[in-house]
Amino acid sequence: MRPRPVALTVNGDPATLLVEPRTHLADALREQLNLTGTHLGCEQGVCGACTLLIDGKPQRACLAFAVDCEGSAVTTIEGFDADPTMAALREAFSAHHALQCGFCTPGMLVTARDVVLRLGEIPEARLREELAGNLCRCTGYVGIVAAVQAVAAGRAPQPAAVPLVPEARRMAQPEAAAPAAAPAPRPAPSGGGNSLTERVAIAAPPDAVWAVLSDLPRLAACLPGAVLDRVEGDRVTGSVAVALGPIRARFAGSGEVALDAAARAGRLRGQGGDAGTGSRAEGEIAWQLLPAPGGSEVEVTLGWRLTGGLAQFNRAGLVRDVVRRVAQDFARNLEALIAGETPPPARPIGVLALLWGILRSRLFRR
Ligand code: FES
Ligand code: FES
Repeated sequence: MRPRPVALTVNGDPATLLVEPRTHLADALREQLNLTGTHLGCEQGVCGACTLLIDGKPQRACLAFAVDCEGSAVTTIEGFDADPTMAALREAFSAHHALQCGFCTPGMLVTARDVVLRLGEIPEARLREELAGNLCRCTGYVGIVAAVQAVAAGRAPQPAAVPLVPEARRMAQPEAAAPAAAPAPRPAPSGGGNSLTERVAIAAPPDAVWAVLSDLPRLAACLPGAVLDRVEGDRVTGSVAVALGPIRARFAGSGEVALDAAARAGRLRGQGGDAGTGSRAEGEIAWQLLPAPGGSEVEVTLGWRLTGGLAQFNRAGLVRDVVRRVAQDFARNLEALIAGETPPPARPIGVLALLWGILRSRLFRR
């Protein structure tokens, strides 16, 4: 496949990468810009060693395709020299013996800085949850947690924090490469969490789509991995199965549904747990049906908060593509149901399988 140029800003400087569609951002930064502080461990989004900032938000560089970063502002561990929070974290990591081989440290520091700025001083349990997406194989977490706590002590949240870039570099940035404005806040579960919105096209008229969206058993039949056990008034109980590589989880729980037939919108708020991984999830899914050329469109807003063993999948950047694939599967199942066919039986949401599907679709669409 022919490489193509991608223009972006890296650590405040304009840069052009020459990449194939399959090249992930970490490889491009390491091999073309010699920014080897972005480490690669698992290369499947689990260990957090490759964490950096894209447009001010922590992301896995092994899951971000370089071609998707056109116009973005990327900050690697090498780009925080003028950042006082990062300087304080570096000192604290040293003082609290929070690193040994140092392999996890760049990603850990980028995540820690985000936590300190976004949340300020927080209880230790919450801090451990926030750091759960960054794995350290040698130091253990006592020193790391102590170091981050020392820097966060007495701080208030600073949600709009972006990395400091030296003034000369900032002025040299092309306008289009400036950090993107913060997105409008979306509904998220109480107590913090993540949210994202996706739109999915359905090749069927709005009346037919609403007939399914307002009928909970039929709606559940279209959702990959979902099983609805009982509907009593506006209360539902059921489960969602998830397969994360070797990890199998089934979140069983209950929720409340609200449907607005006039607005053709609905909302489900619920919570559940998986005994196997000791994880708990709470969340809200809101859907809005809209007419569209050639059929309908459903806008889905998902807000969630995970605790326990699967907390590393809390970050929106990590799950956005997965949710997009789930939405596509949902649309296909819904179209099949409207056409009188039977949707396939509920299967676990296989994240790694979905990631392969995402990769394959990206490879073949170019
Ligand atoms: S290398 Fe492990 S998350 Fe990217
Ligand atoms: S210090 Fe070695 S992996 Fe964390």
